[in-house]
Amino acid sequence: MKALVTGNLPEKILAMLRAEHEIVVNKYDRPMPREELIDNIKDKDGLLSMVTDRIDDELMEKAPNLRIVANCGVGYDNIDVAAATERGIWVTNTPGVLTDATADLTFALILAAARRIIEGEARVRAGKFKSWAPFLFLGAQVTGKILGIIGLGQIGKAVARRASGFNMRILYHDRNRVSESEERELNATYADLKTILSEADFVSLHVTLTDQTRHLISARELDYMKPTAYLINASRGPVVDEKALVEALRTKKIAGAGLDVYENEPALTAGLADLDNVVLLPHVGSATLETRTAMAVLAAENLLDGLQGITPRNCLNCVGR
Ligand code: DGY
Repeated sequence: MKALVTGNLPEKILAMLRAEHEIVVNKYDRPMPREELIDNIKDKDGLLSMVTDRIDDELMEKAPNLRIVANCGVGYDNIDVAAATERGIWVTNTPGVLTDATADLTFALILAAARRIIEGEARVRAGKFKSWAPFLFLGAQVTGKILGIIGLGQIGKAVARRASGFNMRILYHDRNRVSESEERELNATYADLKTILSEADFVSLHVTLTDQTRHLISARELDYMKPTAYLINASRGPVVDEKALVEALRTKKIAGAGLDVYENEPALTAGLADLDNVVLLPHVGSATLETRTAMAVLAAENLLDGLQGITPRNCLNCVGR
């Protein structure tokens, strides 16, 4: 069978695919341009896609043989799953393997924003570290504070577990309340969004991007937050109205933010990069060698399953087939 791999994956993983199928690979560290994607997909039975590829009905229409889209990422908002289902195309993602790396990075953002790590580092490099002083370069304490987790899925829970080491109290909101025993284990209290926003010292977003979560955090929600609070986003950029966030940071309506994702990635909303109360990372939540390798292996396994006609292990739209 024929498959297209749109990301520059390690040779060892590509060899797994080559052993059984004919594959075409994007060998560059940039997303495959749309025209190239359309051109290459035409005769393919399978696609191993990156989260930066837009897999919509127009694209699937061009690939009459396509039977599986294996996304290399847990998020799949880049894929029109309903259209794929309509066309009988399986869609898979890579859950689980990136939970810890993403939770670690979330904590890096919390600490970096609260303790002004990036600003401090830049100061030292610029030769501006002249002496220790008692009230110079103060940040906010993390230990013992209230952490609001919005979206208590696998990553949200992993963040909660890390927070217990910082003696933090956890308020959470999710579409589905977790069991009482899990709430006890995570030391997490269920609350509505408004309560979390108005009480938490750190609000961390871990929802998937859907029509319901787009701009979940907008001007009104930022208004609820305390002027000492921080917003952390390692989920998807469009969950936050970035223009409203820039305004809230600029006017010090909130103390700061830590972002790994952007509304119009990789572009930044005007003014965001000029602010020093925000930490900006280039979508690296899962970017450890171990995790990205595990994600690529899992995506390859899903692709192989699909090409063999076996229900793929992480199928998102196989129920009822
Ligand atoms: C994901 O898996 O959805 C991440 O955002 C990509 O690393």
